[in-house]
Amino acid sequence: MGRVQLYLFVAVLGMMQVLLLFAGPRSKSDGLAGTAASNTGHGQNPRQSKEGLQWCPDCRGELCARKFLFIVATGRSGSSTLMNMVNQVPGIFLWGENHGALGGIAGMQERFLKAAQDSSDARRAELLQSSQDVVWEWLTPPTFQNDWKRVEVRGFKEIRWNETMVQFIRRSLPCSRLIFNFRLDVEAQSHSDFFKRKQRKPGAEALSTITDKAAALVARSGLPAFQLPLENFSAPEFTRLARWLGADCSFDKVYNTNTGGSMDAATTDARCL
Ligand SMILES: *[C@@H]1O[C@H](CO)[C@@H](O)[C@H](O)[C@H]1NC(C)=O
Ligand SMILES: *[C@@H]1O[C@H](CO)[C@@H](O)[C@H](O)[C@H]1NC(C)=O
Repeated sequence: MGRVQLYLFVAVLGMMQVLLLFAGPRSKSDGLAGTAASNTGHGQNPRQSKEGLQWCPDCRGELCARKFLFIVATGRSGSSTLMNMVNQVPGIFLWGENHGALGGIAGMQERFLKAAQDSSDARRAELLQSSQDVVWEWLTPPTFQNDWKRVEVRGFKEIRWNETMVQFIRRSLPCSRLIFNFRLDVEAQSHSDFFKRKQRKPGAEALSTITDKAAALVARSGLPAFQLPLENFSAPEFTRLARWLGADCSFDKVYNTNTGGSMDAATTDARCL
C-alpha cells in the first residue's frame, strides 16, 4: 500500500469511529447553528497550556491543546526548500505533500456535521475532537535518532487547498499557523521545468490568479500567517521565520533543494543554530 492510501485508510478508520458517535440516541437541537462557533476553539472555554497560548494566543478550549503548522504553497515556489528549512527549527515537523488528503477528511466532516445538525453541542464537540485525533495521529512524526528532535508542532506542506480544508482547520485544529509561500515573479514560475513537462502548463496570468486565490484563502482563515515569497528566501528572512515560529535559533544559509518533498537531515546542510 502506498503512503497516501495508508493515510486515507487510517483516516477512514478514524471517521468510522466518529460515525459511531451518531449511532446513539439523538438529543434535540438547542439552536446549534449559533452555538457551534463556541466549540470551534474560538469561544470562551478557558482551558489552555501556556505554550499553547504562545502558538495561538486567541484560541480557547480543549481543541487548542495541539499545535499545527501548514505551508500553503502555490507550486514551483520553493516549498520543498521551505519545508526542509522549517524542519530544521526545533519542535516542528512537517510532512511533504499528500495530494490533498486533508480535503477528503474535511469533506467527510462537513457531511457528518450536516447529518449531526440535530445533535447536542457535546456530540458535535466530540466530532470535532475525534477529527483532530485522526489528523494528529496521521501527522505523527518519524522517530529521530537519539531523539535529537522533540516534535510539538505537526503539519505538512501542500499546494492543493480549498475553502473546505481551511474551514476544517478552523473548526478542528484551531491552534494552527500558516506559512503562505508563493512567487512574486509568476512569469518565471510559468517557465519552470515542472510546468514545461505538463501538457497544459499554466501561463503567468493563471498563476497570478492561483496566487491571488491562495492569498485570499489564507487571509480569510483568520489564522496567524507568515508570508514568504521565493524571492525573499535568504538566511536572515528564514531566521525571521524561525523567530515567528517561537525558536531562538538563526539560519546560516538557505538549503537549496528540489527533491519533491522528502526530508533528509543527513544531506541538509543548512542549520538553525
Ligand atoms: C475541497 O476538496 C475536497 C476534496 O479534496 C472536496 O471534498 C471539497 O468539496 C472541496 N471543497 C470545495 C469548496 O471545493
Ligand atoms: C520580503 O522581506 C522583507 C524584509 O523582511 C519584508 O519587509 C517584505 O515585506 C517581504 N516581502 C514580501 C512580499 O513578503
